[in-house]
Amino acid sequence: MAGTVPVVSRMYERLSARRPLVAPSLLSADVLQLRQSVEELQGEMDLLHLDVMDGHYVPNLSFGPQFAAALREAYPETLLDVHLMVTPPEDFVPSFLEAKPDFLTVHCEAGFHIHRVLGRIAESGVCPGVAINPGTPVALLEPILHMVGMVLVLSVNPGFGGQSFLPETMEKVRSLVRWRETHGARYLIEVDGGLASENVSEVVAKGCDVVVAGNSIFGVSRPYDAVRSLRSAAEKGLRR
Ligand code: DX5
Ligand code: ZN
Repeated sequence: MAGTVPVVSRMYERLSARRPLVAPSLLSADVLQLRQSVEELQGEMDLLHLDVMDGHYVPNLSFGPQFAAALREAYPETLLDVHLMVTPPEDFVPSFLEAKPDFLTVHCEAGFHIHRVLGRIAESGVCPGVAINPGTPVALLEPILHMVGMVLVLSVNPGFGGQSFLPETMEKVRSLVRWRETHGARYLIEVDGGLASENVSEVVAKGCDVVVAGNSIFGVSRPYDAVRSLRSAAEKGLRR
């Protein structure tokens, strides 16, 4: 597609054949055991999802750029998927780019200059992503879909782990699949919030490529087994 940035194409080539991908969200992990939480999922997770909250865009505080950089340094082979729930994103993007994540995702509702911010992320060699809240229509993203390698569809209102999945957000996944086909775009569709083995196959059947899960992985006694069951349930969605 005209205007697709090289970093987006490279990431799409690398990951699209492996879908569905599973991205555990560290937000639900025990903060006093973060190293163990990351290490026990090595070899089973596809991406590590890091939720960044500023207490302003969402009513919660979580991880900062130093933590992202420490993860990058300790686990250079792990695909690091950083989801910024901050406003305005342009104030935070430079410090997170220094951490060199693989994906850096910003909310389309969180600032006035989404086109500029996504361009800045791509220029630095990091794959840009855009996130969309349950109350925001996909139409708002159309002018920038050629710039991103990931579209994150929030299936809960952002801010907290452990909330209930909102099925009405899945119509957006279908629209994004149609748009990608029609326009030859190269983004992965990531669904984030309330996902578990019971509902993930339907979500993948709708077109989700990347499954984010916090509570259903880190809220149980065996996170490694939880990733495996989530993946096998997600794969059933490919056959639906
Ligand atoms: C919500 C976050 C999610 C959250 C998912 O603001 O973006 O990544 O941690 O957690 P669960 O799977 O528990 O809904
Ligand atoms: Zn997230």
